[in-house]
Amino acid sequence: MSGDRKDDHVRLATEQNRDRHRRNDFDDVRFVHHALGAADIEAVSLRTRVGAMDWPVPLYINGMTGGSDATAIVNRDLAVVARETGIPIASGSMSPVFKDRDTTGGFRVLREENPSGIVLANLSANATPEQAHEAVGILGADALQIHVNAVQELVMPEGDRSFTHWPENIASIAASLDVPVVVKEVGFGMSGETVAELARLGVGVVDVSGRGGTDFAAIENARRTGADFAVLSGWGQSAVGGLLDSRAAAEDARVTLLASGGVRTPLDVVRALALGASAVGVAGGFLRILRQDGRDALIAEIRRWLEQITAITALLGQTSPAGLRNTDVVITGEVREFCQARGIDITAYATRRGTG
Ligand code: FNR
Repeated sequence: MSGDRKDDHVRLATEQNRDRHRRNDFDDVRFVHHALGAADIEAVSLRTRVGAMDWPVPLYINGMTGGSDATAIVNRDLAVVARETGIPIASGSMSPVFKDRDTTGGFRVLREENPSGIVLANLSANATPEQAHEAVGILGADALQIHVNAVQELVMPEGDRSFTHWPENIASIAASLDVPVVVKEVGFGMSGETVAELARLGVGVVDVSGRGGTDFAAIENARRTGADFAVLSGWGQSAVGGLLDSRAAAEDARVTLLASGGVRTPLDVVRALALGASAVGVAGGFLRILRQDGRDALIAEIRRWLEQITAITALLGQTSPAGLRNTDVVITGEVREFCQARGIDITAYATRRGTG
């Protein structure tokens, strides 16, 4: 059953991400161009700090899959892509390992094919500290992603129905692991309040994974035979909204923000870095390229992204991902309305270069 679900997710997410230039909140983020302000490309380094980790690039393949024969092959391909491009990669949820030990190999391949890369394990907020240790051990993982996915669980006929134990559970996992914990959404976003609470629970890295890309409410609706939850499609914050909403809380609590959800282009990556993300994840968009065009096409695409991220960083007069936080960013449209309603001062973002 769980294996079928994983196969359904891969198939439906691939279809959903076909239209990869669909408008989303990233279009409401524009850079002010300073014609004399560019830096030299050769001065740019893409290295970035993610909590206590040093990552070679601010781009990663986000957690997707594993748990069935077909998804073990997807994981092998993604691991080769990560190795060949040098980008960090996260596993899909490793809960299947604790129901069926035979699925372990389909996750372990992420490390076997990519022995010296950055690899993140992935579990739900229901996992025990013992399971967290074991998942990290299976992958020799550099960190553990814990996904919080209440919307997805509610929409899934076989999903969880109780959630109040999550905060305490996340705190016990974070306290017992000796690798960093990254708490992430799965495409419905984070708020500043959530980031502040996660910091109190001992979490140092949060991926705001927002709406605008893969939509699990729509995917689960397409799978289910019972009542239709289409009303929840589009629920939540985008990555852009989540970053803007969480920035103050993250700075106060020294939480590292990651961004994902609806990242379509290298420019979207740079936009998220400019809004305070330390690295940016892509799931559905890369899965679609892998499944439609193959592994080599995805390797070529990611290499192109890294070149363009470097070029745009230089264009903006910066030499590092962190430096992008000093660029002038104008926020328009619905994101601007969201910020006004939440009391977020966006004018400060438009005049940073002079002060940065
Ligand atoms: C996911 N995602 C996900 N996240 C997670 O933490 N554990 C998981 O097991 C999965 N499974 C999964 C399967 C598939 C097929 C996709 C496409 C995605 C969510 C993913 O990491 C990310 O948060 C969202 O997909 C939003 O990013 P994109 O797809 O818009 O780039």
